[in-house]
Amino acid sequence: MGILQKWLLGFDNNSKFTFFVGNSLSMPNSSPIGIFDSGIGGLTLAHAITELMPQEPIIYFGDTAHLPYGDKSATAIQAYSVKICNLLLEKNCKLILIACNSASAAAFDLVKAYVGTKAIVVNVIDPVIDFLGEHMQSSTLGLIGTKQTVNSGIYARKASALNQDIQIKSLATPLLAPMIEEGFFSKTISEQIIREYLVQPELSDIDGLILGCTHYPLIKKQIEEFYQGKVEVIDTSQIVAREIKRILTEQDLLNVGSPGTRQFFVSDYTDSFEKSTQLFFGEKIKLTQYPIWD
Ligand code: DGL
Repeated sequence: MGILQKWLLGFDNNSKFTFFVGNSLSMPNSSPIGIFDSGIGGLTLAHAITELMPQEPIIYFGDTAHLPYGDKSATAIQAYSVKICNLLLEKNCKLILIACNSASAAAFDLVKAYVGTKAIVVNVIDPVIDFLGEHMQSSTLGLIGTKQTVNSGIYARKASALNQDIQIKSLATPLLAPMIEEGFFSKTISEQIIREYLVQPELSDIDGLILGCTHYPLIKKQIEEFYQGKVEVIDTSQIVAREIKRILTEQDLLNVGSPGTRQFFVSDYTDSFEKSTQLFFGEKIKLTQYPIWD
């Protein structure tokens, strides 16, 4: 059993996460969790959250009009992220999750400053870094993600700040997100593309591989098959969902009572996006166009 699996099953429970202590939000527990991504990839996180906390109401926003963020400039991603956060604040979200590695890398600091004390802001990178600090000291880890995420160097910087002898070797894998979105996984062609990336020298001699894009949980199985148990494959969605539960519990903001409502908005609706929700959320969901950019 891998390190992540043991942790998720509670066999290793010595977590010492300590941020967001003493938040002074005065919001009802029934306020929603706001989740946003460049498109529908962040639904993997929305799904992990609803599995772990079925009571939580969620509002999801996929900025499909600007997909992919992975190839955009940091400035553009920052502008999109702030506008989306504004919408989620208008909808009284108690916590905003930036469910996109590219936006977490480019816009977290700005979004956090913008949101201030109106809501808790969580990105998808810090919980993973904390997990590495707790469970993967003195290891060499690979990271795959979009060009924006990899070129930002944020994982390597944050891992190095832990001072725990964690080395990060990274490779941008821009073909993977569109491939997954088109439903190309568990197929021979996707296996070849994944293999082509994983054999690159940038990812040689690693102990673990961080799936640094919210689309990648869908190809975790294929990646694990490639490594045949020799490399720990770190699916960040479950780590982030657990961290959100921890924060809401600590802040006494967990919703209790009947299961929460779920709303899913996109900035540009197409039938094809709606069809793909089945892949990312495990069931087909109704997407509603929200005219944020009009
Ligand atoms: N969801 C994005 C991420 O996690 C990948 C897709 C995109 O490039 O917009 O980085």
